[in-house]
Amino acid sequence: MKVLVAYMSQTGNTKKVAEAIYDEITCEKEIKPIKEVQDIGAYDLSFLGFPTHGSGPDKKAREFLGRHCKDGRKVALFVTHGAAEHVPDVPEWMANFRGAVAGANIVGFFDCQGEISKGAKFVMRIHPDEKVRGWAKVETSKGQPDEARLEKARAFARDTLNRIV
Ligand SMILES: Cc1cc2nc3c(=O)[nH]c(=O)nc-3n(C[C@H](O)[C@H](O)[C@H](O)COP(=O)(O)O)c2cc1C
Repeated sequence: MKVLVAYMSQTGNTKKVAEAIYDEITCEKEIKPIKEVQDIGAYDLSFLGFPTHGSGPDKKAREFLGRHCKDGRKVALFVTHGAAEHVPDVPEWMANFRGAVAGANIVGFFDCQGEISKGAKFVMRIHPDEKVRGWAKVETSKGQPDEARLEKARAFARDTLNRIV
């Protein structure tokens, strides 16, 4: 069994979750940014992680998911977002990630809050989507993902692997 952990991360939050997941994998494994991934077909299972950009995956994330997630390949998605998990909009955003995976077999899904950095807030404040401009005001995200959230990510990795192996 060969497992890939691939992530997109501008400010490090999704990378932190990726590393927590990677640490839990006991079989053959690799971790890399999505831009270094050639073909997830070379792996038995791929954990793929992205930040939420404008209520779902951004263009690059969509392209990656569309290109690689086919032929019933086993993928487990993990996503970070600036809003807290209980915010009512979050399920719709996560559905947008699932929807970007056309032909793969989604064997696991995990999402958690990630700090909105100062730079990200600046970008979000001038974003064309009014809702994203609103999310730039979120003040609850500082320090996320914290240890409790990273532990949940580890549990997600263990659970997914137990079901697949
Ligand atoms: C352009 C842009 C758009 C974003 N849109 C959203 C959004 O719609 N909802 C949300 O909760 N967070 C949004 N965020 C915040 C990021 O999803 C969040 O901070 C994430 O953890 C960043 O992950 P990273 O550090 O791996 O890049 C946005 C950030 C940027 C830069």
